Amino acid sequence: MKPYAPYEGSRSGAAVPTQEDKTVSSIASVLEESRVFPPSAAFVAKAGLDADRLAALHAEAEADFTAFWGRLAKENLHWQTPFRQVLDDSQAPNYRWFADGKTNVSVNCLDRHLGSQGDKLAIRFEGEKGDVRTYTYKQLHAEVCKLANAIKSLGVQVGDRVVIYLPHSAEAVIAMQACARIGATHSVVFGGFSASSLKDRIEDAGAKLVITADGGWRGGNIVELKKAVDEALSAGGPSITKVIVLKRTDHGVPMVAGRDLWWHELLATQSERCEPEWVDAEHPLFLLYTSGSTGKPKGIQHSTGGYLLGAHLSAQWVFDLKPDDVFWCTADVGWITGHSYVAYGPLSNGATVMIYEGAPTVPDAGRFWKIAQEHGVTIFYTAPTAIRALMKLGEEWPNKYDLSKLRLLGSVGEPINPEAWMWYHRVIGKEKLPIVDTWWQTETGAIMIAPVPGAVPTKPGSCTKPLPGIFTAIVDETGEPVTAPGQGGYLVITKPWPSMLRTIWGDNARYRSAYWGQFNNKYYVAGDGAHIDADGYHWIMGRVDDVLNVSGHRLGTMEVESALVSHPRVAEAAVVGRPHEVKGEAVFAFVILKGQRPTGAEADALVKELREHVAKQIGAIAKPDDIRLADGLPKTRSGKIMRRLLRSIAKGEDITQDISTLENPAIVAQLAGRG
Ligand code: WTA
Repeated sequence: MKPYAPYEGSRSGAAVPTQEDKTVSSIASVLEESRVFPPSAAFVAKAGLDADRLAALHAEAEADFTAFWGRLAKENLHWQTPFRQVLDDSQAPNYRWFADGKTNVSVNCLDRHLGSQGDKLAIRFEGEKGDVRTYTYKQLHAEVCKLANAIKSLGVQVGDRVVIYLPHSAEAVIAMQACARIGATHSVVFGGFSASSLKDRIEDAGAKLVITADGGWRGGNIVELKKAVDEALSAGGPSITKVIVLKRTDHGVPMVAGRDLWWHELLATQSERCEPEWVDAEHPLFLLYTSGSTGKPKGIQHSTGGYLLGAHLSAQWVFDLKPDDVFWCTADVGWITGHSYVAYGPLSNGATVMIYEGAPTVPDAGRFWKIAQEHGVTIFYTAPTAIRALMKLGEEWPNKYDLSKLRLLGSVGEPINPEAWMWYHRVIGKEKLPIVDTWWQTETGAIMIAPVPGAVPTKPGSCTKPLPGIFTAIVDETGEPVTAPGQGGYLVITKPWPSMLRTIWGDNARYRSAYWGQFNNKYYVAGDGAHIDADGYHWIMGRVDDVLNVSGHRLGTMEVESALVSHPRVAEAAVVGRPHEVKGEAVFAFVILKGQRPTGAEADALVKELREHVAKQIGAIAKPDDIRLADGLPKTRSGKIMRRLLRSIAKGEDITQDISTLENPAIVAQLAGRG
């Protein structure tokens, strides 16, 4: 990597025997999957990493994993102050990486490309309505510097938190990079979250500034972002002093005098240069809220140096990035995938990033493929839920477009069923392109288990093997590794890695217990069930905790339950997941009302109202697909809800479990819709 020159040139029940069965049933077919797809000779010939080079990296990491990461950090990132210590494990499991080094993420993503490729496109943006805008690295750098100066002028200092609530846009990336430039910690909130979720996140983060837009376009409608910000701040929001508003939809939103400032007015007078703030490698680059099995969403805290190294190297290894690639990761920047593979990983590698604002089916089901054709997309990375949805709409849509520039496909966020994998392979990949199924989490910061495309043959439904420097195991209830191929257990990570989360913002005890407590700080516990086959390939079986994966989005069952019980008519609620053909999992809620249970049209109206209520509390993604009103929940005599039974009911299965230990066995028929 060139040195930095400042301003140069300008699941199944069997998988985890002790856990309740909550695996998407379609995954069962994975167990019989035996097809193997080696990369084509043509791909291997040009690949950045072939099997030998990958084997050498693995060997190096196995011999001394700290030395391995230390070498890569030195060679791949620009350090203003070089680090001396690679890993500090004195406070484990609060690990610190490269802690005495200083760097800046925006310099690594922008400045260091200015000399060699300042005029290359960094971003190609297309709005839902078809408006296209591009930014060269020089232009992106200038915009980032202007916004960084503007943010500083509003009194934001190193370490202050800035909430970003923007449409999926170039400006969202500019805002993230601007924060990184001045050492402000950003927290991006997905535009689909409600005012109430936004408020919780602003408060938990103690943010000083919100960066938003009047609105964004999605599915042909305006997403009322500014309105949600106003609502979130209406009850006080004491920490917020300023709101920067990007004009996007221009539909006339009210501005609060003294608080709200238009992005374009604010930037008009700012310089295109902004000295980067050199921060410690451990400085929090961002917080990203995600759902856990208990309580409110947690603010996952990521670092500067370690995080960037993970995003940078994984993008290079897994996507085989080359100078002329146009890389399109369809995830919104509001999710970790958008952080690592829209905003940071590809830019630190100097790639061209495609950003599309809107829905995949506007104006028709060919939109994604039209974009791929028109922008010359070479690498396409999306979620199985999108693949399944597009698959249902028919292959005539992709077949209308020239997809010959594509050379690599990726999948993320949930298990991909072999049927969807094969469709992706055949219809989009024309049976030639490698598919990288990438397993990772908000907490891991970067891809952990995935095929390196020029080196690892793929099997539909398996994310294959850990990347170099990542060490995994499948363990049983007692923490003992399971050794028999195919035997399921908990997926754990056995050694720290640079891009790992550092803590949960404001709650280190929860960090320690949620991820490390189960096996006495020995392993990071991912919360997924998995098994490893005789070839060492990993097969993810889904979450083993009370976290649902709906369309690749994480949702805590407790979050949805709290949202439901906050409705005045609801006494109690229990939420489970049920398999869903497109979404992977759907939200199924059993609701017990206060007072009389309505029937007929009155019940239908209430169910509709409850769904809207959840959307208002959390966001549309959390709306239950099914709500069943009942007089009670199945509880054991000690008062524990038998969730396993509820899952069977939600799936429409015959009840074979022993219900004689229930306090109220008669309720089962009613819950199953038969009473
Ligand atoms: C699931 C998304 C199977 C898993 C990057 C994990 C996957 C959760 C895969 C994290 C995959 C992610 N195969 N399951 N390739 N990728 N998951 O935090 O259950 O939104 O724990 O991060 O998604 O979701 P998160």
